[in-house]
Amino acid sequence: MSAASLISPPLTLAEIPQPQILSLGVLASGSGSNLEAIAQSIRGGALKARIQVLIYNQPGAGVKDRAERLGIPAVLLNHRDYASRADLDRAIVETLKQAGADWVIMAGWMRIVTPVLLDAFPRRVLNIHPSLLPSFRGVGAVEQALSAGVKVTGCTVHYAVPDVDSGPILAQAAVPILPGDTPESLHARVQVQEHQIFPLGIALAAQRERDI
Ligand code: GAR
Repeated sequence: MSAASLISPPLTLAEIPQPQILSLGVLASGSGSNLEAIAQSIRGGALKARIQVLIYNQPGAGVKDRAERLGIPAVLLNHRDYASRADLDRAIVETLKQAGADWVIMAGWMRIVTPVLLDAFPRRVLNIHPSLLPSFRGVGAVEQALSAGVKVTGCTVHYAVPDVDSGPILAQAAVPILPGDTPESLHARVQVQEHQIFPLGIALAAQRERDI
């Protein structure tokens, strides 16, 4: 059975003017496949950007090894070491600024962010979520879609705002749910699309900022 996907806006990176090289700081908690997809998009010349630093919060996270392999400086900021979300975000902002990052890319960052981070990088904090927002916010989005019995789900790149998995949408990809799908099989197909739309969403956000 074919499993066609649909990306909107239907653009490739080559169609988006990218006059400036963006300086990215990536926040991640998990395996880091989105970090790698962004890094590959940069290496292939499709996304005009540099990844200045990876910040991760889970000591054993796979993303650390990926960053090492990709030559990206990685900094562990373990949320357990901070008294509040705002304190963690203050450390994140300091690390990002020191690294020279102008954009904040939440690539599987499983922490709620506060105005401390959002206000330090206005309209420059982007998130990816494994559902077609506004459906299935929060943790377990893939499982939520399977439980709801929807026939199409997907992923979304959006501006981060104080509410979780909310904020203006930049790009989405639809992914059909197939008979027999498990959370793992479905998430794997959703991630293939995440890796397409995250670089696209980053370029779109930069374009929108220039157009303001
Ligand atoms: C991605 O599927 C991303 O959408 C999700 O975490 C995964 C990280 O994968 N993020 C959220 O659920 C945020 N609410 P990765 O570590 O392989 O990039």
